[in-house]
Amino acid sequence: MIPESLKNELKARVDAAVTNREAAVDVLKDLQRHYGWLTDETVLAAAEILGLSPLQVEELATFYELIYRRPVGKRVIQVCDSISCWSCGCDAILNHLQERLGVEPGGTTADGCFTLIPCACLGNCGEGPTMMIGDTLYGLLTKERVDEILEKERKLVVSE
Ligand code: FES
Repeated sequence: MIPESLKNELKARVDAAVTNREAAVDVLKDLQRHYGWLTDETVLAAAEILGLSPLQVEELATFYELIYRRPVGKRVIQVCDSISCWSCGCDAILNHLQERLGVEPGGTTADGCFTLIPCACLGNCGEGPTMMIGDTLYGLLTKERVDEILEKERKLVVSE
């Protein structure tokens, strides 16, 4: 069950928005930040908070790539595979990540640290190949830079 304090915080966010739908993605992201991903129970709670139907919330949750409807690792690595990054070699970066992490796209590492997900444009097209881990964007990726970033992110996860 959602803690009352979080529920009240989210309701205040909904009240401040022009429409409930406008607040929906922020509410879903806040819930995801709290729980790691959106369970069915969380979607129902979000619908109640937002005054929307569960189906409307489900549609939003499954439309946005940054909302997760299944368990993910502590850090989600999103690797852009849109045209600019593709032309800069994102395939090699994705393959390198798969090797390093020992997972296929969509998979989560055995230690629960990382989930690897290819995604559409991250808005950093001028600095491809690009990936995003959590809220941090990394561009101009090379295999060496990916290794450094993974090490840094793993240390951060362990220290949490
Ligand atoms: S195409 Fe990769 S960030 Fe836009």
